[in-house]
Amino acid sequence: MRKITPSEITLENHYLSRRQFMKAAGALTAGSLWLAACKGSETTPTPPLEGGTPPPEIAIITDELGDPANSLEDIINYNNYYEFTTSKTGVAELSKDFITSSWTVQVGGLVHNPKTYDVDDLLENFQQEERIYRLRCVEAWSMVIPWQGFPLASLLREVEPMGSAKYVRFETLYDPEQMPGQSSKWYQWPYVEGLRMDEAMHDLTLLATGIYGKQLLPQNGAPIRLVVPWKYGFKSIKSIVKIDLVEEQPTSLWMAAAPNEYGFYANVNPEVNHPRWSQASERRIGENKRRETLLFNGYAEEVASLYTGMDLRENY
Ligand code: MTE
Repeated sequence: MRKITPSEITLENHYLSRRQFMKAAGALTAGSLWLAACKGSETTPTPPLEGGTPPPEIAIITDELGDPANSLEDIINYNNYYEFTTSKTGVAELSKDFITSSWTVQVGGLVHNPKTYDVDDLLENFQQEERIYRLRCVEAWSMVIPWQGFPLASLLREVEPMGSAKYVRFETLYDPEQMPGQSSKWYQWPYVEGLRMDEAMHDLTLLATGIYGKQLLPQNGAPIRLVVPWKYGFKSIKSIVKIDLVEEQPTSLWMAAAPNEYGFYANVNPEVNHPRWSQASERRIGENKRRETLLFNGYAEEVASLYTGMDLRENY
């Protein structure tokens, strides 16, 4: 995975997704434009324009498979955040006044050096990187998102896990005054998620603080959320206030709500269907045709070895 230093992070309006670029190119001229094959986030050589001045250089941002990032508009207006609402298009409006300043994250449990971090200190003390990841929701929609953040592993190393720590348990803020969905009796609040220690220490596992070079907005889990790109999106818990290292496998909100539907591992697997729908394909937001879902969401090379010898159907 290519890492990008903060100085390279470009604001969203300097980016253009390939889809937007093709639209723009089509509008400019017919026949004289060409597209370069893109890998990662690269600047496209500007094509010559018939009899005119060359257009400005445009950075097309793609994931490592060459698929374009979703627009910021897509990413901030189509969300899952049950603390606010179960409507994907209603989260942005309902969460717009959510207070994300003076936020602390308490890191403790089976560690030698428990600490409470101010999010501003996390931003300053841990080098922020850009990671362009696919996000595959268990509901079979997906996006490509350019996150900023830092590996969870660097935070965990700082608190010095004890040998007895086997899992990491994460908790979202509990504040029904601000989060109306938390009054719903259907779920056990606060939202809880968990990872096995080796999953948590994996370099792909990110604590995200921004998208497209801007601070996270409330609908995406501001001020800090987890991103585990090879697992279904529900593992990527938002607005974290507490991280505990524990010995027992944590029970997540979704495991408690429907254990036959949502397991602890939740690795993206096209061969294991949800009891109510197929997981073989997905709808990439912004595309018309469905695309095939990839094992481990396309990150098998990086993470399959974490599960050697495990039955992925049993451990769904
Ligand atoms: N975290 C909390 N606290 N509450 C939620 O409802 N939804 C999850 C995950 N994290 C959720 C959450 C689900 S189902 C998905 S698909 C992703 O957030 C969606 O992230 P996004 O809205 O930033 O795309």
